[in-house]
Amino acid sequence: MDKVLLKKLGDPEAHKIDNYVKAGGYKALGMALKMPPDNIIQAVKDSGLRGRGGAGFSTGLKWSFIPKDPTIKKFLCCNADEGEPGTFKDRGIIDWDPHLLIEGMIIASYAIGAAKSYIYIRGEFALGAARLDAAIKEAYAKGYLGPNVMGTGFNHDMFVHRGFGAYICGEETALLESIEGFRAQPRKKPPFPALAGLYSKPTVINNVETLSCIPAIIERGAKWFSSIGPEKSPGPKIFCVSGHVKKPGLYELPMGTTLREIIFNHAGGMLTEKPLKAVIPGGVSAPMLTEKDLDTSMDFDSLAAKGTMLGSGAVVVMDSSACMVKTAYIINRFFSHESCGKCTPCRDGTPWLTNILMRLEHGEGKQGDVELLEGLCANIFGRTFCPLGDGAVMALRGALKNFRNEFEYHAKTGRCLG
Ligand SMILES: Cc1cc2nc3c(=O)[nH]c(=O)nc-3n(C[C@H](O)[C@H](O)[C@H](O)COP(=O)(O)O)c2cc1C
Repeated sequence: MDKVLLKKLGDPEAHKIDNYVKAGGYKALGMALKMPPDNIIQAVKDSGLRGRGGAGFSTGLKWSFIPKDPTIKKFLCCNADEGEPGTFKDRGIIDWDPHLLIEGMIIASYAIGAAKSYIYIRGEFALGAARLDAAIKEAYAKGYLGPNVMGTGFNHDMFVHRGFGAYICGEETALLESIEGFRAQPRKKPPFPALAGLYSKPTVINNVETLSCIPAIIERGAKWFSSIGPEKSPGPKIFCVSGHVKKPGLYELPMGTTLREIIFNHAGGMLTEKPLKAVIPGGVSAPMLTEKDLDTSMDFDSLAAKGTMLGSGAVVVMDSSACMVKTAYIINRFFSHESCGKCTPCRDGTPWLTNILMRLEHGEGKQGDVELLEGLCANIFGRTFCPLGDGAVMALRGALKNFRNEFEYHAKTGRCLG
């Protein structure tokens, strides 16, 4: 498969508009602006593209929920918060190929009838924000943004909004609150953003990688896109590989590539002679898998069938030196630190989990701690305002399911097993 999303990675000149246009950039926008908006939405539906931000919702279907009434203002927001630990794919697009994202966003905005769009980028991504600001300026100068885009009568303005570096800012409704100038906390759903989003207007929120697939779908066709990978989760996918491998990094591969291929064919295999013990397939919220699961196809449905998820596509590999109690403690500490405080089960439950894991890890655990962790998980899961609390529980439950003996050993002896 030739690369679609990361073809410019490592090319220091690729982010400039002249080079982007020379390589065929903005051709898809020209094609899209000649199409009726509904045909674009249909093409995106037919392509089978599912959101790359974590939930895997059909992108075309999401766009089709936006009311058609031209008198109602609509917005597009690009989620470039990229907060899930282990995830660094959106940066790979923004830093090296910002016009790919911008082109995808203009097409998406035209399809849903949005005159304004926002890129919500994590505050720490200074290079990415600067690249986007410069690229947007170039796009205005060349007539791809602003009034009368490419002489078609379509008007579009695009803004970069820098976030403040909290994980919750990536939750789509908290992101909208943040753009509006409020503290980033999730909103009650329904109403969903497609009906009442930014400034209470119909809004589509999509991930960077999702939107960056759009130019190729327009240019090469929905059929081409849907022919890549599994029928129900097609297209190219960026996998972020980190941990105990020889070549950590970004790998753009067909969706459905197996974990074994990703780790051993692309990421160079295990870092040392030590065998693989556990692998997180989709960011730290995704329950971990073990050696026996390495032939799992990396797509939304196959991973769900294994009780885990594709999430952001962040593959974290751990060898036999990793203690699962320590791993669970570190992951949980992240979630409790990032809990936004809006709802009690998450605000009070995640630090409670962290305290128990900390005492287990520090050799001060008590008999019954494992059961206490399980009881707390049951009281958090499904009872929080947004999925942040669920993520904390899913990660811990994955560790307990596969490595319960390590937790029990810690509780009994105060030490690591083996
Ligand atoms: C706590 C939390 C953090 C999230 N962080 C991100 C993020 O950093 N980037 C992202 O694209 N989606 C993130 N999401 C998912 C978004 O809420 C939303 O589903 C996504 O942006 C939709 O885009 P997509 O349909 O293109 O995947 C997060 C969700 C939750 C609950």
